[in-house]
Amino acid sequence: MKNVFAITGLSLALLTGCGQHFVAQQSTVEEGTVKKNTDSSKISPGKIWLDDNGEVINAHGGGVIFQQGKYYWFGEKRGRFASEGVNVYSSSDLYNWKLEAMALSQDKNDTLSDIARGCVMERPKVLYNEKTKKFVLWFHLELRGKGYSAARAAVAVSDNVTGPYKYISSFRPNGNMSRDMTLYKDDNGDAYIIYSSRENYDLRIAKLTDDFLSVTTADTMLFSNHREAPAIFKYNNIYHLITSGCTGWKSNKATLHTATNLFGPWTESKINPMSGPQADITFDGQSTFVLPVAGKKDQFIFLADKWNPGNLKDSRYLWLPIQFKNETPVVEWMDEWRLGWFENNLKKGNNN
Ligand code: DGJ
Repeated sequence: MKNVFAITGLSLALLTGCGQHFVAQQSTVEEGTVKKNTDSSKISPGKIWLDDNGEVINAHGGGVIFQQGKYYWFGEKRGRFASEGVNVYSSSDLYNWKLEAMALSQDKNDTLSDIARGCVMERPKVLYNEKTKKFVLWFHLELRGKGYSAARAAVAVSDNVTGPYKYISSFRPNGNMSRDMTLYKDDNGDAYIIYSSRENYDLRIAKLTDDFLSVTTADTMLFSNHREAPAIFKYNNIYHLITSGCTGWKSNKATLHTATNLFGPWTESKINPMSGPQADITFDGQSTFVLPVAGKKDQFIFLADKWNPGNLKDSRYLWLPIQFKNETPVVEWMDEWRLGWFENNLKKGNNN
């Protein structure tokens, strides 16, 4: 990993001037500059990740797409509390990340705009539409000054993966409240939004229109057990859906549901998909996305956020490989790991 550097709590404290939040550990900051970690080919869940400019990566509740040889990571740009827009970073190796742009900014001029400064943009996800040749960004939108009451899904579109994205509209899909959400494009190109509805009691799915800019009326409830933070992937022709409970920014236990049809029925696994220290609170994180490793069959990375509600910008990223034990996905805690882990694991005959 060349530029995603794991630095200590004290290092961030010095960078952000908020030392009281951090336990002093070995400092890697020297005279105000970040001393770069020489080993730049590993993923260190929960540590501070820097981009190729030495800035802390600011892309929370995110999702990643792979496009023409590069990964693009979209995530919430956060201030200490405020939502500031959607950032997009690029990488060709999942270790080194470059800040490309603010993919979608808030509207600083029009206080009546849906995305007026002060609105909340969460969990941005992007899909490429082969038919329209456009990139479509969806996110959870809350209107300025209205807390979490608007509960809308919002859509923006761009000709280029890095944007800028043009805001189109926001709405409640088929009239249903919509908070935490994710997008999923199936093998045949059909796309779906999976969203927490009815004050997060129901998890729903709606098929998107062909241009991915709106929802069709093919919209159904998946299950009704108060879940959010959906992250979905398909393995062995079975859809796997990891979700969290609803405890605000506080971490809780993840669950796994599986189905052979996106519209259900979905079956809850009895096994906790997380394993290792703090597995019962998702390693003190919350699911946001499952990233299929490009060009590699059955290699998936579980992406979660370790939220810091006292300073959302300093929320950390928990990226861990998904293992399959008896066909069941397991996310095991690792302090650090490399992509070569997948091949080594296969060689050891550990998968399946
Ligand atoms: C949990 C959600 O998963 C987050 O995206 C965010 O909406 C927080 N709740 C707000 O409390």
